[in-house]
Amino acid sequence: MKVVITPRGFANCGEENVKYFQKAGISLVYNQTGKAYTKEEFYALTADADGVIVGVETVDKAYIDSHPMLRAVVKFGVGLDNIDVAYCQEKGIFVGKTAGSNARSVAETAISFILADSKNLYESISNTKANGWSKMTGYEVEGKTVGIAGFGAIGKKVAQMAFGLGMKVLAYDPYGVDEAVAQKFDVTSVGLDALLERSDFVSLHIPLTEETKDLIGLSQLKTMKPQAVLINTARGGIVDEKALIEAIDCGEIAGAALDVLEKEPAAPDSPLLNRDSIIVTNHVASYSKESLDAISLICAGNIIKLYSGEEPLHRVV
Ligand SMILES: NC(=O)c1ccc[n+]([C@@H]2O[C@H](COP(=O)([O-])OP(=O)(O)OC[C@H]3O[C@@H](n4cnc5c(N)ncnc54)[C@H](O)[C@@H]3O)[C@@H](O)[C@H]2O)c1
Repeated sequence: MKVVITPRGFANCGEENVKYFQKAGISLVYNQTGKAYTKEEFYALTADADGVIVGVETVDKAYIDSHPMLRAVVKFGVGLDNIDVAYCQEKGIFVGKTAGSNARSVAETAISFILADSKNLYESISNTKANGWSKMTGYEVEGKTVGIAGFGAIGKKVAQMAFGLGMKVLAYDPYGVDEAVAQKFDVTSVGLDALLERSDFVSLHIPLTEETKDLIGLSQLKTMKPQAVLINTARGGIVDEKALIEAIDCGEIAGAALDVLEKEPAAPDSPLLNRDSIIVTNHVASYSKESLDAISLICAGNIIKLYSGEEPLHRVV
């Protein structure tokens, strides 16, 4: 039995997780190169794999058809937009994800963006490193409104943290807002337009699907307050990046913090990188030791259970 793990994060989690696989008699290949695999490397390394644990590698029809031994695809995280789940199901291939495993880390990143913006930390650090000493006046976040689009594992954690900071919390989720959580953290459920209109921060926590592709376009950005900040730690394709640049340049919104981009890594000449009011990080929101440990453990558990004939805990199909 051979399993290939592509995300670099797995190698940072210590030997314990490797031992789980070894004890279960699984021959494990994992990425210790410190770099993402190229498409060619991914295809070649997994040519004889029974299972793959993937990050952002594309697992589409072409990949699945050229890997007939494949019995399991497990996402090292939660977003399944790079995996053709329906085709896996058709082919009888197990698909798993590590639901909730990185929710706290991603939520903390979203909140960090809010706090960094409120105290102009990015500008202050850049200015001080350039030997400047100029000061910008920030503001306190208490009483400000955060609008959370997508009230799942991450969205709910953001609500809890924002409530703790004394912020007002709005949530939009067409598939339902958990009433008990909403009550606990004083969350008001609203439609998307109301959320955009009323929020000082709009934080996206929804999956990238056909329905959510370019959900935030120019007209949605124009609906936001001119002083509002858009935070995207979900997926790049949810925000129309051209529209975002236009909205920033025209003063429709004040700024954006993006952990995810339509194309990653960012192109060196991407306009997103040379706007002072846009902060870009390298899809790092979930990269905490705790979250990587949890993801690794769940991935290992999923695969081991599957191969020992037990039902895995995090089956998608
Ligand atoms: N930056 C990162 O490193 C990172 C890490 C983890 C997850 N993510 C992204 O965050 C997303 C959310 O993760 P999660 O663990 O909270 O997932 P989740 O499945 O627990 O929650 C997603 C929520 O979005 C809602 N939703 C679906 N379609 C919607 C729509 N059109 N409008 C509003 N809400 C909608 C769902 O009802 C659900 O409540 C993932 O799909 C993934 O793409 C990014």
